Amino acid sequence: MANSLSFPGPKNTNSAPRKPLARPGDFPLFIASIRRVLTCFARSLMMIGIGGNNGSTLCATILANRHNITWHTKEGVQQPNYIGSLLRASTISIGTDANGKEIHVPISDILPMVHPNDLVLGGWDISSASLEKAMVRAQVLDYDLQRQVAPHMALLGQPLPSIYYPDFIAANQEERADNLIPGTDKQVHLDQIRADIRKFKLDNGLDRVIVFWTANTERYSDIIPGVNDTADNLLNAIKNSHSEVSPSTLFAVAAILENQPFVNGAPQNTFVPGAIELAERHKSFIGGDDLKSGQTKLKSVFTEFLVNAGIKPLSIASYNHLGNNDGRNLSAERQFKSKEISKSSVVDDMVNANRLLFKAPEVSDGASIGKGEHPDHIVVIKYVPAVGDSKRAIDEYYSEIFCGGRSVINIFNECEVRVRDLLPIARWLMIFLRTPFSLLPLFWT
Ligand SMILES: NC(=O)c1ccc[n+]([C@@H]2O[C@H](COP(=O)([O-])OP(=O)(O)OC[C@H]3O[C@@H](n4cnc5c(N)ncnc54)[C@H](O)[C@@H]3O)[C@@H](O)[C@H]2O)c1
Repeated sequence: MANSLSFPGPKNTNSAPRKPLARPGDFPLFIASIRRVLTCFARSLMMIGIGGNNGSTLCATILANRHNITWHTKEGVQQPNYIGSLLRASTISIGTDANGKEIHVPISDILPMVHPNDLVLGGWDISSASLEKAMVRAQVLDYDLQRQVAPHMALLGQPLPSIYYPDFIAANQEERADNLIPGTDKQVHLDQIRADIRKFKLDNGLDRVIVFWTANTERYSDIIPGVNDTADNLLNAIKNSHSEVSPSTLFAVAAILENQPFVNGAPQNTFVPGAIELAERHKSFIGGDDLKSGQTKLKSVFTEFLVNAGIKPLSIASYNHLGNNDGRNLSAERQFKSKEISKSSVVDDMVNANRLLFKAPEVSDGASIGKGEHPDHIVVIKYVPAVGDSKRAIDEYYSEIFCGGRSVINIFNECEVRVRDLLPIARWLMIFLRTPFSLLPLFWT
């Protein structure tokens, strides 16, 4: 089987010869033609970790939608759909009609964007399992869907070989690392990743490729002056194969140098200061700090609700268990630490936004001392193989209310198919790609 991974997708209707679409004064048609031109851009995803649960599930469900595969479950026949996707399944209010009735339209009708069915899919993995085998290994999708989508997945072939620096992910991942770019020279690795991106673009006739880290959570990289603190130091550190350059940072640098956008879907500090400076220098889009679309999203929404209602959370205690490979990797202390930092940070913004409830830090000589008043916040993650890909989370919010009263709210959630994590982020990025670099902070919150 060829050691390359790409899928041309259905014939791109955007490339069909176009008749003149707009006459002077024909504004709606003019807008429609602009939208068609814009949607020609980023229409591909290269995932790092494509053979994992997220990567293989995303590919399989896009293919199920593209080929309109229906499947039997114990509840009956299931149709493919994009429920759970912010951009395919939610609407936005655009104002009121003449009678004051609110009008909602699909978000995807307002903003020009590629339909996920048309995405060209590709990527790297340190595991050589072909995509249909990776889907079976993930144990996420119903058997009847797996069975039918398998021939389409088989066409994707094997992931491209990747880079593996054992110090950055848990030791328990070593047994799957059989698909590697040889050697230990980080400059050679960088050049190979860049060549992969260029070849993928060329083979598939693409202008843009979104490079998306959905591989295992890495440990945090130490920020070392002279190594990864500036763009030039980072490039030098790669040349010298410095041990503190992580695989995810190397992929980010490759994407930046190829002027392709890069998203980090895991919690580690991929964007060391040198990577950020390099992105600014090349005016290249980078973003992301974990997917934060399940329990963590709920936590940010719920904390915002409490604090905006004038309720003061005194403690937030989060417990999770999961039994997939992500959970296995996170059972190692240093990888868990990255997740803990990322999950804890979502509460900080809300605390900083309401100094009526939470005392601000004291200031001495113009500098803040400490973080100021803050709820106690703990995060526990346990690996329980029996539950497989089903993640269970319990969050307890213990808050102060009027005149010393107390409120306790417990939330339990169980989350299975996680495809929605990646698609909205990738498609927001497609919008950013059409936004002048200087306007980006207006969107990226
Ligand atoms: N699924 C969720 O709900 C969710 C939410 C937030 C964040 N995340 C993060 O997304 C990431 C992926 O999650 P998952 O459940 O798919 O995990 P997974 O373990 O199933 O998949 C990760 C894949 O990455 C591959 N990999 C590891 N290092 C690599 C490298 N250097 N290059 C290429 N491939 C490499 C592994 O072989 C594996 O196939 C994890 O970091 C996880 O913490 C997941």
